[in-house]
Amino acid sequence: MNNFSKVVAGVIRWGSWGTKMSSSKMGAMIRSCVELGVTTFDHADIYGNYTTEREFGDAMILSGVSREEIQLITKCGIIKPCAEKPGFQISHYNTSKRHILESVDQSLENLNTEYIDVLMINRPSPIMNYEEMGEAFHLLKESGKVREFGAVNFSPEQIRAMRKFYPISSNQVEVSMTHLTPLFDGTIDTCVANDMIPMSWSPLGGGSIYTNTKAGKKIELRLQKLADKYEWTLSEMALLFLLHHPAGIVPVVNYAKPDKIKESVDLLDVEISNEQWFEILISSQGEELP
Ligand SMILES: NC(=O)c1ccc[n+]([C@@H]2O[C@H](COP(=O)([O-])OP(=O)(O)OC[C@H]3O[C@@H](n4cnc5c(N)ncnc54)[C@H](OP(=O)(O)O)[C@@H]3O)[C@@H](O)[C@H]2O)c1
Repeated sequence: MNNFSKVVAGVIRWGSWGTKMSSSKMGAMIRSCVELGVTTFDHADIYGNYTTEREFGDAMILSGVSREEIQLITKCGIIKPCAEKPGFQISHYNTSKRHILESVDQSLENLNTEYIDVLMINRPSPIMNYEEMGEAFHLLKESGKVREFGAVNFSPEQIRAMRKFYPISSNQVEVSMTHLTPLFDGTIDTCVANDMIPMSWSPLGGGSIYTNTKAGKKIELRLQKLADKYEWTLSEMALLFLLHHPAGIVPVVNYAKPDKIKESVDLLDVEISNEQWFEILISSQGEELP
């Protein structure tokens, strides 16, 4: 993942699960990202009920950006019954070799590409067969269809089990200033121990740092007060909290508008002190450290 950008553009909200961008708008967003140095895009087969990958593939043609200029992450393993996925009764996980291979072929077609840079297993299934997953990864690597493999929300033990059969190189987890657990339960440390890239999904807590509920408001007020002190916006503070981490956490950022891309890229040159990092942690937790 050496050529990947230090912030990644997440596309979960680009299609029918969010802003429903037209093809030309999506193409323009792709181009703006690349022009500002955000060259890595984060997909999953399921986004937009299995429609966003294809919309992105179409938008790539309009964007004027070449495949070699970007890196594509996509994921598989979650089955959600919907019009695009008929024949299923319930949402469930499928991490079988057959499903992984079929899903990759579908993603390649959707994204209009010959290779995927990183394929991730989108959730740890309680009945994962690691050996079978490893076999699928070896086949996909040998065929050139996928270059690297990763996981989503894998625990340290699940990473250890997976790496027995394939050296996965990334774990995308829900970690942010409002979701601190992976910083304390060994998830991020396991990435460091295995030279894996930790990635943060929903780096703004999926918007929860802005929520207007009673509980949300309490944390929002504390965080806003701290952000004001340092003249950061809340989203800048959330991203700085992740970017400062020595494990090299890569935030997967939701860009609804092009100005957000520049905001996040500019942060790559901003240093925060150790003490400031702990101020954010303490504001989020609402209590002093022991
Ligand atoms: N692997 C996984 O299981 C998984 C799960 C979720 C996400 N992801 C990845 O992570 C990426 C980012 O996730 P995310 O979209 O949840 O990220 P996020 O940045 O944590 O949350 C985005 C949400 O925050 C809201 N927000 C941002 N700025 C705001 C402001 N100033 N005031 C009020 N609301 C604001 C956005 O609303 P607006 O749209 O109105 O700006 C949007 O609803 C996704 O695109 C996807 O690639 C992965």
